[in-house]
Amino acid sequence: MSRIVLGVAGGIAAYKACLLLRLFTEAGHHVTVVPTPSALNFVGEATWAALSGNPVHTQVWSDADQVPHVRLGREADLVVVAPATADLMARAASGRADDLLTNVLLTAHCPVLMAPAMHTEMWQHPATVANVATLRERGVVVLDPDSGRLTGADTGPGRLPEPEQIEAVALSLLHERVAASARERDLVGVRLTVSAGGTHEALDPVRFIGNSSSGRMGMAIARAALLRGAQVRVVAAAITAPVPGAAELVRVVSTGDLAEAMAAAASDSDVLIMAAAPADFTPERRSDGKLKKSGDEGLTVRFVQTTDVLKSLVAGRCDGQVIVGFAAETAADPEQLMELGRAKLARKGCDLLVLNDVSGGAVFGSADNAVTIIDRGGVVDSLAADKNLVAHRILDAVVNVRKSH
Ligand code: CTP
Repeated sequence: MSRIVLGVAGGIAAYKACLLLRLFTEAGHHVTVVPTPSALNFVGEATWAALSGNPVHTQVWSDADQVPHVRLGREADLVVVAPATADLMARAASGRADDLLTNVLLTAHCPVLMAPAMHTEMWQHPATVANVATLRERGVVVLDPDSGRLTGADTGPGRLPEPEQIEAVALSLLHERVAASARERDLVGVRLTVSAGGTHEALDPVRFIGNSSSGRMGMAIARAALLRGAQVRVVAAAITAPVPGAAELVRVVSTGDLAEAMAAAASDSDVLIMAAAPADFTPERRSDGKLKKSGDEGLTVRFVQTTDVLKSLVAGRCDGQVIVGFAAETAADPEQLMELGRAKLARKGCDLLVLNDVSGGAVFGSADNAVTIIDRGGVVDSLAADKNLVAHRILDAVVNVRKSH
């Protein structure tokens, strides 16, 4: 259990912070909500108190005997401000301490995450741009807002990222190494494309052959790369996991589509990660009409092999491009898993291979993953953890390969 301070600034997206609060408490964390006085115009104190199960502090002057303006920040393991408005970020950047939340920000020793939400003009105003740069320089992790529908009819960058995305990023910052790379923004200027999900190979207009990949690992990689400052494109086959809003999204259906989309992405990507589960076989022909039963006869379908996307990306690799593959194997023991991994790495020719044992199908759709990351020299890293943490360790390995190029 971690102690989280959830700061809420005065924006309409404050209602989404209620969902974020719920996610934190359901995950077992102790949350103290610190709304700014203007945030209370949007969501009242009673809601925050009931949802957090804790007293709500807004003013420096209430409960002065407990010195909340210093204690809350000092004792927190994590401070999350969602939504962070233009005004809140301006006050934080200039070191003001005119309400309890800004006092907390001045006394916190822990990671601080801000999830901005405002109208596009405000986000793009040079004053806000400068304030965000100042906050980032000082080690505050400021997320980029999502693009999309804002309060009125306007659309553009400025939407609060979805609560599930903020929660995933926030909890990953509790790991020191992740917080350090998020502060460092060690992937700024890097264009990264990650594929995710399982492809569908059509048998007829309504049926397909697919697999149970959820896309969760790929989305965790996208989220981690965005956090570290990369420009991220997600090539998504069938996925159930939500896509981080700050990533560019390309949807595909079949392995053929995936091959095309990845080839197009390869021309302007520094890092390519094949976390998708593409079908290796596709029906030789797709029936134009719905397949019908005929008497008691069964159905025989001939399958042909699909393109090996990873192999073709390696064959067409640009200078300095880092290519990462995954290998889902069913192995009898760890030695056999390594043997299969080494052989696959040699066959595919990628820089890194993320190996996991899928015996029993435990990995698909799960929040955790046990992986061994290998390169031609052997094991680079090995861990069993939450997919968000695994994603960061894969990116650590990518950063090292880029350094060695
Ligand atoms: N992959 C790919 N194109 C395919 C199949 C797989 O690019 N048609 C990629 C996957 O995204 C993954 C890697 O290749 O990054 C390994 O996938 P895996 O299914 O483990 O291996 P296969 O290529 O199917 O090899 P095998 O059938 O020998 O296990």
